[in-house]
Amino acid sequence: METPTIERAPLSPSAKGRYVRNAIMRIRDTLGLFTALHRDYGDIVRYNILFLEFCIIFDPDLIREVLYEKRSSFEKGFIYKRNTVLHGPTLVTGDGEDHLRRRRIIQPFFHRKALDKYAAIMAERAIAKREEWHRGQIIDADREMRHLTLSISLEVFFEDKTRIDNEMAKNLIDLLILDFQLALLPGRQFIKRVLPRYRRLMRLKEPMDDIIRASIRAARANAGERTDLVAFLVHATDESTAAPAFDEFEVLDEVIEMLMASHETTGCTLAWAFYFLSRNPSVRERMEQEIDAVLGRQTPTLADYDRLVYTRAVLDETLRLASPSYYIGRRAIEDCTIGGYFIPAGANVQLCCYASHRNERYFPHPHQFRPERWLEPQPERPRYAYMPFGAGSRGCVGEAFALMSGVYALASIAQRYRLEVVSDQPPALKTMAGYFFKNGLPVEVCERQG
Ligand code: HEM
Repeated sequence: METPTIERAPLSPSAKGRYVRNAIMRIRDTLGLFTALHRDYGDIVRYNILFLEFCIIFDPDLIREVLYEKRSSFEKGFIYKRNTVLHGPTLVTGDGEDHLRRRRIIQPFFHRKALDKYAAIMAERAIAKREEWHRGQIIDADREMRHLTLSISLEVFFEDKTRIDNEMAKNLIDLLILDFQLALLPGRQFIKRVLPRYRRLMRLKEPMDDIIRASIRAARANAGERTDLVAFLVHATDESTAAPAFDEFEVLDEVIEMLMASHETTGCTLAWAFYFLSRNPSVRERMEQEIDAVLGRQTPTLADYDRLVYTRAVLDETLRLASPSYYIGRRAIEDCTIGGYFIPAGANVQLCCYASHRNERYFPHPHQFRPERWLEPQPERPRYAYMPFGAGSRGCVGEAFALMSGVYALASIAQRYRLEVVSDQPPALKTMAGYFFKNGLPVEVCERQG
């Protein structure tokens, strides 16, 4: 049987026109567009937005081809190449040999064993956050969890207690998202030069850069005294030359990317976890029983981490249903085929795990929030059917960090409080760059005992 080429993929001219219009109209509802494309066209679909050609892939085996078998035919998505907020490539945005070099140097900082020393910080920060609240208070769980995860990242990355605050982090996220949106437009360099909001956010980034650069210079002056991420990067050396691996701006960019990659994703995942717990009281009770049995009223310690298995399953299940990175982007650097379909050089390929995370074949009763599924024998499923942290040589370097801080946060907060979602309506979503809450997540703080 002849293998179909992607040119012959089932996109009739009229459907294509409709989808282009839809895509432009729904640019802020990326998930809506992806869901419709999957429903109407299947596991691999081509579409265009504003002169850009996209190919979205939903099938885990085809995703594996892109991320594993044919990874040398792809580079990181074009949006990262168009980033002008940073001074140059980083672990997140770099490609090829440069990416591998950065990965080899930076990865050891995030190994599970290396992270053990941060367990106490993670637990203490979560308890401090919990103690800021009082019974009956309405808080925005999304905002609170982002602040918590930012405070954890700041302590782990900067031993010298930098003065980066939530406002600076929020401005930086706004800037990166705006940069991301503008990356789609022709004439973006000019637009960035004249757009008042872009210029204002770039100006607001300057004090943050200054603080990080001061921390970098202090770490350089005090060799061996600090063990945080900044000092680790400052003192990292190139294997072949033994020269410093990164200059000041490279360290600055890596730290900024790491702050962004770490706190928004983990914070949003925690907010989703509290959402699902509030909607599923029996799950919450089971998690609380585990926390009471393992911790009682004590602060969680390193030894407790591996005993909080159900709490960890709550996170795994949250990441199945509400993965902040529900799609990732790549760009074909040469002509190739995926699943027998032709992918031309330059095509923007999107790998979306949203559908496989909800596929009945891989996850029975896929729409139910059932953490116990992770503790039961699992149905056979392809390796890439569950990939909230990506996979392969670009899989998330902070996976262990995210899971560890997530377990400590859930356990410390649930020791004392239940966070009850205030509204009966499903939360509004913002899905252009991830699976985020559009208007936060208002919850009521309810004391568990007494
Ligand atoms: C629940 C939390 C998190 C989620 C869902 C998540 C998700 C992901 C995903 C899907 C990727 C792969 C992107 C791609 O292939 O294009 C990724 C990469 C990355 N993540 Fe995370 N992440 C999380 C937390 C963290 C944390 C805590 C850190 C740092 C402390 C971090 C740092 C990074 C970095 C540096 C990369 C780029 C790795 C590379 O390209 O080699 N992430 N993350």
